[in-house]
Amino acid sequence: MKKPDPESAPLIGLLFQEGTKYHRDAFPVSQLDYLTYSGPFKEYPDAKVVRPLNPQPPDAPGNLWVLLAQRRSRRAYTGEKIAFRTLESLLWATQGVTARPGGYLLRTAPSAGALYPVESYVLAHAVDDIDPGLYHLNVRRWQLEQIRAGDLAVEFARAALDQGMVARAAATVVWTADIGRCARKYGQRAYRYIYLDAAHIAAHLYLAAEALNLGCCGIAALYDEEVNDLVGIDGVNETVVYMATVGPTRD
Ligand SMILES: Cc1cc2nc3c(=O)[nH]c(=O)nc-3n(C[C@H](O)[C@H](O)[C@H](O)COP(=O)(O)O)c2cc1C
Repeated sequence: MKKPDPESAPLIGLLFQEGTKYHRDAFPVSQLDYLTYSGPFKEYPDAKVVRPLNPQPPDAPGNLWVLLAQRRSRRAYTGEKIAFRTLESLLWATQGVTARPGGYLLRTAPSAGALYPVESYVLAHAVDDIDPGLYHLNVRRWQLEQIRAGDLAVEFARAALDQGMVARAAATVVWTADIGRCARKYGQRAYRYIYLDAAHIAAHLYLAAEALNLGCCGIAALYDEEVNDLVGIDGVNETVVYMATVGPTRD
């Protein structure tokens, strides 16, 4: 597998936009033999499982219109802990399974072709009842799998363009995309869809955090390969697309 060299292509953003357009008589050419297809769900079978997550939404108040009006990016994290059930509720809002027609696991957030290429990792920094570490959200089993132990908040803050809020937030969600999962159907256009999928998921986190009186801030300013290395993914088949901090804030 040879990784394409983005430096060799001038005007890469323009090429991306043009090369992934649909035209009535010409669909983007698929040259995706550098990707592997690893199936519809990612799992770490040997990882320590924290415990099954509650698959139901929280019984918490919240008026959608008020939440939309109140939502802000909040960065002044206090360092206080959040409860495990709070983390459960936040994750449910982002990727909770809400229907199971014909083998699909439909979720709170939409996904192009119901392929769900976005994987979620939780950097737990100050969460009651779980050790600091990096956890993968196993959507099929609806559980957290510990893939790295220890407090990695400072390392992730450094990888997020030195944004200190990552080191103070109770948790940070790191969203990656399994490109092949989407590209198998959509070819090069998958590179658009994964970002759109991630944005839907992140919007849910923003609103759920607001409903739970927590701050949230999306983070796309990051050193991609540093984050990929911390998560342990190759940056080609699976690569980081977005992150978001969450936790009690002063703002
Ligand atoms: C795609 C995207 C990437 C962002 N990346 C960052 C970031 O890296 N750091 C940060 O502090 N805020 C980031 N933000 C938050 C924006 O700065 C924020 O949404 C904007 O200033 C508008 O403020 P509001 O969210 O409070 O309405 C990002 C937002 C989006 C949608």
